[in-house]
Amino acid sequence: MASHLSAGQALAAVRSHHADMLDRASALSQALTAAVEAGDSGTAYDEKGNLIEWCADDLVPHCVAEEGRIYPAAAGVAEAQLLAEGLRHDHEALAALVEELRVSDGVRAAAVGQAIVRAFALHADKEDALLFPALAEAPGSGFSEAIEGLEEVVGAA
Ligand SMILES: [Fe+2]
Ligand SMILES: [Fe+2]
Repeated sequence: MASHLSAGQALAAVRSHHADMLDRASALSQALTAAVEAGDSGTAYDEKGNLIEWCADDLVPHCVAEEGRIYPAAAGVAEAQLLAEGLRHDHEALAALVEELRVSDGVRAAAVGQAIVRAFALHADKEDALLFPALAEAPGSGFSEAIEGLEEVVGAA
């Protein structure tokens, strides 16, 4: 299809994908916590594996795609440059939490899983409320073009 997203449509698409990601991460983290609270170590092991799989298949590729295709657009928008740098630090912190989850078990794994969800929620809110609007409004930043067709950022069509 040759039609292109407007800035408003592009913003709605990235925000909607963040909301879907957060729903999924919350559900996985809650399942892990519930299994730990129930003392069901077999299910807890499986649920930790499910959350790690989501991090590896969805969260980390999402961050990589943003750094490759969206954050570079901030280089030309003065008020967005430091923000994008701060958001890169968030990505590093999220990646470190995922590694911590891999080597954690039981209550500790449940706590790290919850930390991942909270950290991602705070991070996505800064992108949704600050970075993406700044880029969408900046003439010539190429925001809409950058995200178009980027499944890791807008979800599957
Ligand atoms: Fe991000
Ligand atoms: Fe994001």
